[in-house]
Amino acid sequence: MQQSPIIILGIESSCDDTSAAIIKEGKILANIVANQDVHEAYGGVVPELASRAHQQNIIPVVNEAIKKAGISKEQISAVAFTNGPGLLGSLLVGSSFAKAFALGMNIPLIEVNHMHGHILAHFIEEKDGSKNQPNFPFLCLTVSGGHTQIVKVSDYFKMEVIGETIDDAAGEAFDKVSKMLSLPYPGGPVLDKKAQLGDPNKFKFTHPKVPGLNYSFSGLKTSVLYFLKKEIKINPNFINENLNDICASVQKTIVDVLMIELKKAITETGIKNIAIAGGVSANSELRKRLASFSSNHNVFVPKFEYCTDNAAMIAITGYYKFIEQEFTDQRITPNARMKV
Ligand code: KG4
Ligand code: ZN
Repeated sequence: MQQSPIIILGIESSCDDTSAAIIKEGKILANIVANQDVHEAYGGVVPELASRAHQQNIIPVVNEAIKKAGISKEQISAVAFTNGPGLLGSLLVGSSFAKAFALGMNIPLIEVNHMHGHILAHFIEEKDGSKNQPNFPFLCLTVSGGHTQIVKVSDYFKMEVIGETIDDAAGEAFDKVSKMLSLPYPGGPVLDKKAQLGDPNKFKFTHPKVPGLNYSFSGLKTSVLYFLKKEIKINPNFINENLNDICASVQKTIVDVLMIELKKAITETGIKNIAIAGGVSANSELRKRLASFSSNHNVFVPKFEYCTDNAAMIAITGYYKFIEQEFTDQRITPNARMKV
């Protein structure tokens, strides 16, 4: 008898995106993401509003993913969901849905660490069979709104954090500076667009000094704040007149800092396969800088839609866990501070 293919439903709800995806034998069939505009008016994610929006979105998003994948829900082999890290109320919506779905369909339940998902996003195969997967071991610079880490990845499940931020994440630095410049939330992509029109060498900001392969971004945020305050005293219109140059200079500083530690990590480990993951990997300057390095290294940059939060990365992680028969049970509860 022919064995039925492994089909995983992935659910992601750790922050402010509600997403569902279907992966069949490692190949993507659907990846639906519902963003939440409700936070824009507040300049940041409001946790209570995020959970309510997840509750409204989760069923339509899952239905759409199943429809787009062209499968029936009876064909799903297991449901994988983000169990942390993230906002507790948001995680509860996705995990409760996943548990109920698994119970109702009598299929296994698979818990996934969100950061693990960002890293394994590199292993998603496209519908047409195309893929661009790093060989093990590789170094993954995981840069998002909540995390900045250099991870040594030796296997699908064997990973070690060899450097990380001691305070703010890189995405947080982008978002906080954007807020100072009155750019809409989330600021990272907006700042990136403006930066492409500005002079990255116009203003200089100091680099943090942190031991090991670690990062720090809180000092940069403070130095930009004092710099702006000082300049605005002299010229109240300073931000408007120099917006693109400020964005370009801040972006250059953040990317410089990211690259310095990454290069150190490459030298220390001797690993030349380099990958990036997480929302900030969508940043144009970071992508450019990594591309310029690819003559000596193998650089892997995921497709844009797999960089920011999405359920395809949760489903692919679920797929590899399914192969290992790594299942969880109904007693599982979300872990807002889960580590890789
Ligand atoms: O991975 P992600 O979608 O969510 C978290 O898990 O945090 O990352 C979101 C972060 C936000 O801080 C956002 O501003 C940043 O990624 N981001 C960017 C860009 N696109 C998204 N930062 C800089 N440049 C971008 N193009
Ligand atoms: Zn993320």
